[in-house]
Amino acid sequence: MCGISGIVHSENFGRSLLNSIKNLEYRGYDSCGVAVIQNGKIDLRKNIGGIDDVNLKERLDQMQGKIGIAHTRWATHGGVTQENAHPHLSANRKFAVVHNGIISNYQQLRERLLSEGVCFDSLTDTEVFVNLLEKSYTESNDLEQAFLAALQQIEGSFSIVMLSSHDPENLYCVKKESPLLLGLGEGCNYVGSDINAFLEYTRKAIVLDEGEYVILGPNEYQVRSLKTGKKLKKNVLHIDWDVETSKKGGFSHYMLKEIFDEPQTVRQAMQIPKEQIVALAEMFADSSRSYMMGVGTTYYVASISQYYFSALAECYYSALSSDEFSVVDIKQGDMVLAISQSGETYDTKTALVYAKECGAKTAAIVNVMGSAISMMADQVIMQGSGPEICVVSTKAALAQTFIMVRVALELGLIRRKIKQKDYKKFQNEMQEFSEIIEIVLNEQSGFVRNIARDTSHVEHWLFLGCGVYYPVAMESALKMKEVTYQHAEGMPAGFLKHGTLSMVESALHTLFFVPPPEQKELHKRTLIAMEQVKSRGGTVIAIIFQGDELAQKLAFQSINLPVVSSLFAPLLQMIIAQMFAYYAALDLGRNIDKPRNLGKSVTVG
Ligand code: F6R
Repeated sequence: MCGISGIVHSENFGRSLLNSIKNLEYRGYDSCGVAVIQNGKIDLRKNIGGIDDVNLKERLDQMQGKIGIAHTRWATHGGVTQENAHPHLSANRKFAVVHNGIISNYQQLRERLLSEGVCFDSLTDTEVFVNLLEKSYTESNDLEQAFLAALQQIEGSFSIVMLSSHDPENLYCVKKESPLLLGLGEGCNYVGSDINAFLEYTRKAIVLDEGEYVILGPNEYQVRSLKTGKKLKKNVLHIDWDVETSKKGGFSHYMLKEIFDEPQTVRQAMQIPKEQIVALAEMFADSSRSYMMGVGTTYYVASISQYYFSALAECYYSALSSDEFSVVDIKQGDMVLAISQSGETYDTKTALVYAKECGAKTAAIVNVMGSAISMMADQVIMQGSGPEICVVSTKAALAQTFIMVRVALELGLIRRKIKQKDYKKFQNEMQEFSEIIEIVLNEQSGFVRNIARDTSHVEHWLFLGCGVYYPVAMESALKMKEVTYQHAEGMPAGFLKHGTLSMVESALHTLFFVPPPEQKELHKRTLIAMEQVKSRGGTVIAIIFQGDELAQKLAFQSINLPVVSSLFAPLLQMIIAQMFAYYAALDLGRNIDKPRNLGKSVTVG
């Protein structure tokens, strides 16, 4: 879960490489480094810390050259030290390598190289590979042959980019399980672990497939199969993401900016052609058993969707956390839907591979074009939410949920569970939803900020809701934990009385997701739980809808939202809870866009 970038022949070289890893910083940010060829030699600078800090120490932006590689790291193997930061050099300093993934047999290889007299600076698997390269080159005197020979010796999952002073015109790249893409410019080419590495410079991209390697020059590239050595013809994709969307645009953090992107994200989700939505609904309708899976936030998106499928199409589908998916007995004729912002999450990818091996039909909702999951599934909906830079997922999760509502609605129609006139009404509500979000964001943000500030000291929270508001509470609690590092536990409101009530006292705060009063049964059950907390001296904060006096009376503080259709009430509360977590984290001085111990796409198991 690190970021790789490489550039061949760019103007303003150091600055371009630096920008490109800055655009990848959300993938890892504990150390970084750059290696370039200057005057026939490799100049390497790397250090621990975020990219701006390292740049101040090492002046990466002033590095000169025409070809180079860069890396931003999130440590998985080997601690956060300058030695362990990438790029890694071979002992003779003629090879430099950046690497994502894991070389699983590196210990044996390291011991062999040690016995042959190689000295290592770091504890990383990458340094083993770069020294294998050096050895292989001594034997063949041919760079491509040396690259292939070294690759033959390693096992695991990896993407690697190699720079060598033996060939100052080309980068050597390989992809196995860990993503790698090429960016094609004018007289200048790029390689990156995702398109953000080069989106600022070009919109033309090539996604590398499993077991492919590339020799990348300034004007040409050759993609070949590792297995056969054959030259491969690749499709060039046009990336239509707006570069501006990946900028902070005056907001103090990407998280806030991306929350404010949500009206636009919903509009984009509404633009996804109806045929694609219907095709996915039909896939559900035609399958004997259907499953939805994701992990972290996307698991909660699947869990929220369960309620929509049930309400709109009278279908119940299991929602599973991808890391638990292998316990399910999947059979031919089953259908599995994966939900993933990055399209690279290891747990979800692995679960999808398992589903395919069992003969299931597969579908996916993904944000990142060309990502592994988007290439694997039989049917894919690209959500088109634009780059989500903050590690914490907000706009992507909302868009995924919105898309799932669209699918549930189509399925309801296919299964004749909703009438045409209701379908039309829901469609109209969908069209209006983005404007409602805009109003709510503008009207409520000050108010949400005040309550978040007043309560940011609270160390233990219970987030409670009934029906669909329960997974919304779960997702909101995850957001709170991720970004504030405070304890927040999501739970069904009715579950509270079965044990957890024992914890209630004034220091324990509860956030209730109260449905509109028209959802009578859910509303009643939520208010009962609010009373249970209040009567035991617990502090009740509630997100409610205007006119709900009963709930208002029970709450110590409440956030009053405009009345919306019950279809979108849970989604509106989800947005408010994202803002609540943001402002609490702001007050606590947390590293909001890059919270500790998290990375944007978790590509390890
Ligand atoms: C939550 C969050 C994580 C991701 C999870 C799945 O804010 O960012 O829980 O949702 O790691 O990631 P994707 O959606 O990329 O598969």
